[in-house]
Amino acid sequence: MDDAVYPDPSFGSAEETEALRAAAAADPVGFWADRAAELEWFEPWDKVLDDSNPPFYKWFTGAKTNIVHNCIDRHLAGPYKNKLALIWVGENGTDYRTFSYFSLDREVNQMANVIKAMGVGKGDKVTIYLPRIPEVMFAMLACAKLGAVHSVIFAGFSADALTDRIDDSESKLVITADGSWVNGEIFPLKDIVDAGIRFSPTVENVIVVKRTGQDVHMDALRDHWYHDLTALPIANGKCATEHVDAEDPLFILYTSGSTGKPKAILHTHGGYMVGTYTTLKYTFDIRDEDRWWCTADPGWVTGHSYLVYGPLLNGATAFMFEGGPTYPYPNRWWQLIEYYGITTFYTAPTAIRSLMRFGDAWPNRHDLSSLRLLGSVGEPINPEAWQWFHRVIGKGRCPIMDTWWQTETGMFQICPTPSMPLKPGSAGKPFFGQEVEILDDAGQPVADGEEGFLVLKNPQPAMLRTLYKDDERYVNTYWSKYPGKYLAGDSARRDADGYLWVIGRTDDVIKVSGHRLGTAEVESALVSHPAVAEAAAIGLPHDVKGNAIHAYVVLRMGYEPSQQLAEEIRKHISVHLSPIAKPDWIDFTEKLPKTRSGKIMRRVLKARALGQDEGDLTTLED
Ligand code: WTA
Repeated sequence: MDDAVYPDPSFGSAEETEALRAAAAADPVGFWADRAAELEWFEPWDKVLDDSNPPFYKWFTGAKTNIVHNCIDRHLAGPYKNKLALIWVGENGTDYRTFSYFSLDREVNQMANVIKAMGVGKGDKVTIYLPRIPEVMFAMLACAKLGAVHSVIFAGFSADALTDRIDDSESKLVITADGSWVNGEIFPLKDIVDAGIRFSPTVENVIVVKRTGQDVHMDALRDHWYHDLTALPIANGKCATEHVDAEDPLFILYTSGSTGKPKAILHTHGGYMVGTYTTLKYTFDIRDEDRWWCTADPGWVTGHSYLVYGPLLNGATAFMFEGGPTYPYPNRWWQLIEYYGITTFYTAPTAIRSLMRFGDAWPNRHDLSSLRLLGSVGEPINPEAWQWFHRVIGKGRCPIMDTWWQTETGMFQICPTPSMPLKPGSAGKPFFGQEVEILDDAGQPVADGEEGFLVLKNPQPAMLRTLYKDDERYVNTYWSKYPGKYLAGDSARRDADGYLWVIGRTDDVIKVSGHRLGTAEVESALVSHPAVAEAAAIGLPHDVKGNAIHAYVVLRMGYEPSQQLAEEIRKHISVHLSPIAKPDWIDFTEKLPKTRSGKIMRRVLKARALGQDEGDLTTLED
């Protein structure tokens, strides 16, 4: 246990926090109703939780709201009007922009006016493919303001990945930039969009934010520079915040699952708003004087919930940095923490491990005394990385909030509170109002200390409502193994003190540097290479990335294995899926282990690669 003393959180002492936990356990629905009452609604709800048709749970039914009203509008009438909502720093370290709640409102109105003039309204889908620049926040909020549904795609995905996601969402509008800065080089976002929407049946307009400044192709009828649009009179003035139903969709976000086709997770205005507001407030003890930095990209759920929505709902000051941790030097993050006085810093184990390798001298050059709390998300944090983060970055003073959650859950599900004793490597206990079970294959709870399937028992407001356009897959994926309980897809164990230890995925999802990828997605990108007849992808443990992709490839007739071909295939994945999905190793093989029905037995490949027992092979083809 770590016993550094943290001052009482602003919402109550350790005893009061535990009393709240107990009250929430006794009456989870009442707990959420009280939290919802801390926010503003245009019309009140009839029912807090409608569980009449599980697993299609609804929250705050009958209520009218808009997440943007609570993120921005309500602050304009109070003391936060002139408070900084966003501090943004560019990758080069010298580009710098700040927005008070007042000026954030102006920017969001401008963007909303522009997209409304393009015919975007309630229920319409908008794809956002932008770098980590303020406009990504404006675009998300502008969509929400109009009741339109945003689909943000991480600006590291390729044209093919973009095509799949844009076609599936039926977006009318794409908001992008000319390019993004990646370690001093330009990543050509607009070119990728051009390729991705060449045959799109739905996209009518593309808005292009100028960021990198190189020449890009602009289609005279379809493409518009954002700065040209904002110069038009239609961009001026206020744009009304639409009154939407609490259960109206706010966004869809594509994430990887066990088939090649990514799943579109659907979240709604009311419940997601209450959930992200509450979890950030209690887990990170958000205070008025805070400068909150979540290093995640808005292309992933962490960026949605805890870079954009959660901080604004709490009236906090968020910090956004365009670049990565090691460019130009591995002190970049520590320098920014010192310079901007960051108080609460939320990042991923993979980043911590990569920075740890550069030694203590880089962080020790900086005064990190502004830090009060640290956080971790995306994959299990190994105790060594936890200790380093705690000792070298937090100077032994700052508790680490290890938050376990998913794109699906929308908000933290298992996490400590700041006043709780911590165990390095454990994500603590279920968040207020949640209950967790660790089950064996037959659905029986396993004993303390034993590994089993992680299951969530209680519906909670920020939980996905369904998979967009695929209710059946929603029910099958999450609710059918143990009827009535949510199957997370992770394995975990609980210790005698009730602390939870998440071990990793039990399905065909691989977490590579905290990014979520599906083996099937990687495999379908592999077989799209002309030399590849069949392919299998597995994740193997990696010191920095957590997991790295190992691909097994059967070549077509006429192709010979070579180092050069392996390199070409890796490049192919980078261009056709994403650089983050590039396999670390490619093994050429004559045959893949399959079941008699033709399914690849990835488990066997993994056991072989790790030199472990291959287990039951009776279903193997030969
Ligand atoms: C993993 C990211 C251990 C887990 C918010 C989960 C974690 C998947 C943790 C969801 C954590 C996330 N400890 N594992 N603190 N946080 N995971 O949808 O396997 O990108 O199922 O959401 O990340 O990934 P996703």
